[in-house]
Amino acid sequence: MSDYILEMRDITKEFPGVKALDQVNLKVNHGEIHALVGENGAGKSTLMKVLSGIYPYGEYTGDIVYNGQVCSFKDIKDSENQGIAIIHQELALSPYLSIAENIFLGNEQQSHGIINWNVTSKKAQELMDKVGINLDRNLLIKDIGVGHQQLVEIAKALAKNCKLLILDEPTAALNDEDSDKLLNLLIDLNKKQGLTCIIISHKLNEITKISDQITVIRDGSTIETMTKGKDEITEDRIIKGMVGRDLLERYPKRDAEIGDINFEVRDWVVYDPLDEERQRIKGVNFNVKKGEILGISGLMGAGRTELAMSIFGKSYGKNISGEIFKDGRKIECRDVVEAISHGIAYLTEDRKGAGLILSDDIRKNISLSDLWKISKRGIVNTDLELEHAKNFREKLRIKSSSIFQATGNLSGGNQQKVVLAKWLFSEPDILILDEPTRGIDVGAKYEIYAIINELAEQGKSIIVISSELPEILGICDRVYVMNEGQMVGEMDRSQATQESIMSCIIQSTGKY
Ligand SMILES: Nc1ncnc2c1ncn2[C@@H]1O[C@H](COP(=O)(O)OP(=O)(O)OP(=O)(O)O)[C@@H](O)[C@H]1O
Ligand SMILES: [Mg+2]
Repeated sequence: MSDYILEMRDITKEFPGVKALDQVNLKVNHGEIHALVGENGAGKSTLMKVLSGIYPYGEYTGDIVYNGQVCSFKDIKDSENQGIAIIHQELALSPYLSIAENIFLGNEQQSHGIINWNVTSKKAQELMDKVGINLDRNLLIKDIGVGHQQLVEIAKALAKNCKLLILDEPTAALNDEDSDKLLNLLIDLNKKQGLTCIIISHKLNEITKISDQITVIRDGSTIETMTKGKDEITEDRIIKGMVGRDLLERYPKRDAEIGDINFEVRDWVVYDPLDEERQRIKGVNFNVKKGEILGISGLMGAGRTELAMSIFGKSYGKNISGEIFKDGRKIECRDVVEAISHGIAYLTEDRKGAGLILSDDIRKNISLSDLWKISKRGIVNTDLELEHAKNFREKLRIKSSSIFQATGNLSGGNQQKVVLAKWLFSEPDILILDEPTRGIDVGAKYEIYAIINELAEQGKSIIVISSELPEILGICDRVYVMNEGQMVGEMDRSQATQESIMSCIIQSTGKY
């Protein structure tokens, strides 16, 4: 038998107007962790969808050789039967089913057409123990964190007796701790069971840590495969392969000229919409200055998104109280429209669920934030709309066939760029960005930081919520630390370090 569990040969896949893959080659050894990296829109997810039968035989050209056999998968079931499982970029669990039900979804433990719940529970528990989920198996998916949801996906794949596991950006939405847990689990399954993994990620530090081989693809073509122990693997080399040039700095230079306070929130209190007894935001005060990039750092669940959304037209929470001042004047933001009219914008962390209308094209999604700007007497000037959309597509380098491509068909990172374009279009004075570079490749991250800088230079105020500490430290002028619904620290760029932020969090835990 050959060393390879998988060989993908000369895979070409076209969509109307786009050649997503152009004779891509990928060779994966038995029992290795193989990383697939590349810029947003390079074709990583598409390649994995070809492999797992989502784009069936006939919709692509080239050969898939799996365990020495040429395969022509008709659909995803077909590849699953051969032991290939895929965990998608956006999770595909059912929120209102339990952990156990989700693990066996589509693979029900049944006899004579009736689900055997005893077997389901028992096997689910075994799998949960294996992947390290210490929760009640009857909990609903919607009530557990994303870190655990990823583990449920892995348990689900293992339930199908998978030999080759594909993970498309599994840690994009996870904090460092959950990411580590997941990666350690992969290493463990790899060592103990010989599970072969293909992992896609933009977090290059993770990739270099766990992979045996790394394949770089750019614009739908294979650039190179690096092997641990044989090649010198560095982040710089991977980046060069991805973007085709050296990226000397991760963060653009910043020459900040910061003005007076132009946005301030006082005594902000927000209750949980489902549990009116529970305070989610407990009297928060903060301000941001003209031309300033302000970071809000904290662990997942600290209340940062809840704070931002409750300010942005009360789009989260109940019984909200407190005051908002803009340019020294008190303002009301009773709904999102009113917030936008005051020049506030909030870029959601959930691009698919709340950021985009997936069935609509790029053009319409961008103009949505301020239709008045391109309308006369209530009628949208479509020429103007097109012009704006084209400009943004160019400026943010949104990779797509045209501005008429449905956003649902864009690659994850390019979807994120459209959401950003949408809010830039409304020309806000106060721009709140919630995890703005989630799923964005290193090169495009730099471009987004440069845009943020540019906005700040124009005198706008930017608030960046990010779980990536290096990002906060790399771009912000001042940092607030949030924990358990409270601001627990504030520091200047010069004082802020990973250690000082973490120690603020640790010292405040359990105090409120
Ligand atoms: N269903 C589709 N219809 C049309 N074009 C598509 C479709 N799916 C993907 N594409 C295009 O194919 C190209 C590759 O997309 P793909 O999702 O594979 O990128 P990716 O490498 O996974 O990027 P990311 O890192 O942003 O997730 C992109 O230009 C994308 O717009
Ligand atoms: Mg992708």
